[in-house]
Amino acid sequence: MTTVQSTPIMPAVILETERLRLRSVLERDIDDVYASCTDPELQRWIPLPSPGAPYTRDDAEHFCLRSAPAIRTSGDGQHWAVLARKDHRFIGSMALLRTEWPSMVTEVGYWISPWARGRGYATEALVAVSRWALDQGFQRIELKAASGNAGSRRVAESAGFVHEGIERNAMPLHEGRTDLAVYSLIPSDPRPTD
Ligand SMILES: CC(C)(COP(=O)(O)OP(=O)(O)OC[C@H]1O[C@@H](n2cnc3c(N)ncnc32)[C@H](O)[C@@H]1OP(=O)(O)O)[C@@H](O)C(=O)NCCC(=O)NCCS
Repeated sequence: MTTVQSTPIMPAVILETERLRLRSVLERDIDDVYASCTDPELQRWIPLPSPGAPYTRDDAEHFCLRSAPAIRTSGDGQHWAVLARKDHRFIGSMALLRTEWPSMVTEVGYWISPWARGRGYATEALVAVSRWALDQGFQRIELKAASGNAGSRRVAESAGFVHEGIERNAMPLHEGRTDLAVYSLIPSDPRPTD
């Protein structure tokens, strides 16, 4: 008898917080994704589409129509568009990626659009996604940020992630390579209050 075992996939969920709504990435997000991903601060820390290559509108289209949905359907994780509930404005991206189902480990990644930074949105969205992942039974959520990315490291700490150490020379950026600061959140960690 042959046993066919398919890779688990995450359920597609909409998450809501006091100020934010996290839903699937859609075709209508292309312009905002393009505007966000061509921002120099984002490009400084996340070398999209790949180190040394310029980000084009085709990349934004491919992301919204193909790669973001495929993250969930392939079992790799789930990608959300982050919207402000007050005016439905697109303000960023949150993702669970590189999910290892046998060990129930996943990794979180994020960016906030330049027009929405400095208002606590990254932290609010990260708390919501982390809570959801722990509620799904994940035993470890990893978060990796370039060691010099003070903003992202602060977001990790504000959301209750614990710093574990440094992966040396671990990631290529557009300009050279960087060490990565490694954080994690596990079920027994104190969860931030709302
Ligand atoms: C890093 C980033 C996600 C922060 O988003 P944000 O919504 O502005 O962050 P928040 O408003 O939730 O800020 C949370 C904390 O970080 C601090 N912070 C935010 N940006 C900062 C910066 N550039 N330098 C230092 N601290 C910063 C805030 O003051 C706040 O501190 P507090 O908890 O003491 O109040 C956003 O700037 C971004 O998308 N940057 C480019 C892409 C990127 O680096 N993504 C992460 C890759 S690992």
